[in-house]
Amino acid sequence: MKTKSRADALCNLVIFGASGDLASRLLLPGLAELHASGELPKGFRIVGVDITDLTTGEFKAHMTAELAEHAGDLNQTSRDTIVEALDYAEADVTDPHQVEAAISDIDSPMVAYLALPPRFFRPTIESLGRAGLPEGSVIVIEKPFGEDLASAQELNRSLRAHFPENVIFRTDHFLHKQTVQNILGLRFANRILEPLWNNQHVESVDIIWDETLTVENRASYYDRTGALKDMLQNHLLQVLALIAMEPPSSLLEKDFRDAKVAVLRSVQTMTPTDIKADTVRARYTAGKIGEREVPNYTDEPGIDAARNIETYAQVKLALGNWRWAGVPFTLRAGKALRDARAYVRVTFKEVPHLAFKDTAACKNVLEISFNPDEVHLRVNVNGEGDPFKLEDIDLSVAFPPQHQHAYARLLLDVLDGDPTLSIRNDEAEESWRIMEPILDTWAAGTPELLKYPAGSDGP
Ligand code: BG6
Repeated sequence: MKTKSRADALCNLVIFGASGDLASRLLLPGLAELHASGELPKGFRIVGVDITDLTTGEFKAHMTAELAEHAGDLNQTSRDTIVEALDYAEADVTDPHQVEAAISDIDSPMVAYLALPPRFFRPTIESLGRAGLPEGSVIVIEKPFGEDLASAQELNRSLRAHFPENVIFRTDHFLHKQTVQNILGLRFANRILEPLWNNQHVESVDIIWDETLTVENRASYYDRTGALKDMLQNHLLQVLALIAMEPPSSLLEKDFRDAKVAVLRSVQTMTPTDIKADTVRARYTAGKIGEREVPNYTDEPGIDAARNIETYAQVKLALGNWRWAGVPFTLRAGKALRDARAYVRVTFKEVPHLAFKDTAACKNVLEISFNPDEVHLRVNVNGEGDPFKLEDIDLSVAFPPQHQHAYARLLLDVLDGDPTLSIRNDEAEESWRIMEPILDTWAAGTPELLKYPAGSDGP
């Protein structure tokens, strides 16, 4: 998928929102990983931009501690190199003059990384557009891309006014997870699955992301977002696209993203009646996850109960095309659950006729598990003893281990200027077209917001 040689990799990264959780927890550790594997270009420079009043020395000291906490398994030299590469510039991203001043001494191509809450995306894009980036620069926008369809369209208009589409990276780090990418290999490099991969043989598809994590220290972000916007609108719809897309003729940027957007377009818009019947929203209450006591979501610091934010979202989607008509795709993500489990489960229909009598056959199930990274296939065989009885067994194998974190892989693509695994403008809008009616109906109170104790299996 790479379009540039590593020698052309971008050497300047400007992080807007550098005091935030993303920079310290994922971006700088990702860069340290790239340094450790020898993939960070020589002379790499990072400018952190934020509204907080900090000196470069204070910023470096803060990031030294953060890297020790979040990248403690990497060697000290790599962590030190990242800290040495840091500068800090105080700026209000809504003020074009301050943004221009913050990037004024960078005269070679740069990555402008917007690690900001969505409400700051548009003013920052405008500020960067006015300041003008050096030729060859790219712009990265974190998720969620907008807060609804109208704001995503607005953001796209704003971006289009200043930047060509091929330098815009709307990120979704799920596409950089090795096992999510394994879906492509499994589907499109094997003969045995594709003939069965349709509504003649598949009964249902479940795409599940259960977490034991709570809101943690992300209340200011999460309590304005909720599970549907945080996970389903972006990550899980992207997994759905990989599972359901038509085989592309190549994995080059255009063929790959065209195939994804085509399948997203086929997802039917849910009516209020569908939403009442086929969606679940819920919020955790106090409970115990393993040994950890968890308070009510609404008692966590920084949470406003009146926002009615859900920490658990489930939707059943229908695809309007020949391959998938009639097959329900259930997407679910939840926080503060008993077990962290993430998988795609493809359940196949029963055999058309069972010659075995007085014995049950299970349905074949293919499970692609992301946590742990494994693939399982449930099949029927003859049981012990009586040859006319059946029992089901699990054929399972571990996927090759993922050596680099998804954010390190994402940053590598950005530095190489390869947008294949980022979200195109039309994909971002399609995802909101699918999710917005659900958000609107939920905001009007339907279905009811359910409760589940932290540490349980959900509502
Ligand atoms: C993030 C969400 O994008 O993805 C988090 O904001 C979620 O709420 C996370 O926990 C899950 O991804 P990962 O890579 O940590 O499994």
